[in-house]
Amino acid sequence: MVKVRILPEDRVFVLTGAGISAESGLPTFRAEDGLWAGHRVEDVCTPEAWERNPWLVWEFYSMRRAAAQRAEPNAAHAALGEMEARLGERFFLCTQNVDDLHERAGSERLLHMHGELAKSRCELECGRAPVEDGAIYGSLDEVGRCPCGGRLRPHIVFFGETPLGMERIQKELARATLMLVVGTSGSVYPAADFVYWAGRSGARTVYVGPERPRNAAAFTQVVEGKAGEVLPHLFEYV
Ligand code: OAD
Repeated sequence: MVKVRILPEDRVFVLTGAGISAESGLPTFRAEDGLWAGHRVEDVCTPEAWERNPWLVWEFYSMRRAAAQRAEPNAAHAALGEMEARLGERFFLCTQNVDDLHERAGSERLLHMHGELAKSRCELECGRAPVEDGAIYGSLDEVGRCPCGGRLRPHIVFFGETPLGMERIQKELARATLMLVVGTSGSVYPAADFVYWAGRSGARTVYVGPERPRNAAAFTQVVEGKAGEVLPHLFEYV
């Protein structure tokens, strides 16, 4: 395996997707087993699905909460926690994942661009901040309401909604000199475009995963392998 050298002047932007949590037992979205109760994820995670049947949406996210609570961070999450400990403010981690395995492996300079499983927020966008909520609901009656009267919804970016923290992401991408992308199929935007944005500012771009992503041609290096097997040995700190 050709090592990725991290130089003293490097600023590293990491983007992770569902693949980094696969070895922790959490299913990815576009795998063959990525369907849930016969639904495509795209049909459950939309504003229209929420309007039509909020319980279907809560049932799905309750199931995902339960799975994430049972899961443990793997060697790939740990390798990124260690990288942050070495690089400090020269490190930034943007994840599309809504589980908290990065935090549990020590990551702090972290942004969840698609939201967080363990939080809920008002469906009416009344301006109140998301609240901690790890509950696994058994029926819609159990789901609380915001003080404004709106029902609580998962703090998740549904398809068609704008990802969180885009301003910060653009700033970090513009100053990154090395971009590392792990375990994402490159099929959901805008995240799939980040490699182009980083490349335009001259950053080296490296992908790690068992299959080539859809945007593979945009990377300077593609390392084929499982994140938990590759990441602990991939870097050489100069
Ligand atoms: P996908 O399910 O589209 O892709 C997962 C990727 O992980 C695939 O390319 C796999 O090859 C790879 N993979 C599988 N096992 C791996 C391993 N052990 N190590 C490394 N990689 C592995 O998931 P995402 O690209 O993350 O959005 O999906 C993007 C977004 O679509 C998600 O954040 C979610 C989803 O709908 C929202 O919830 C808003």
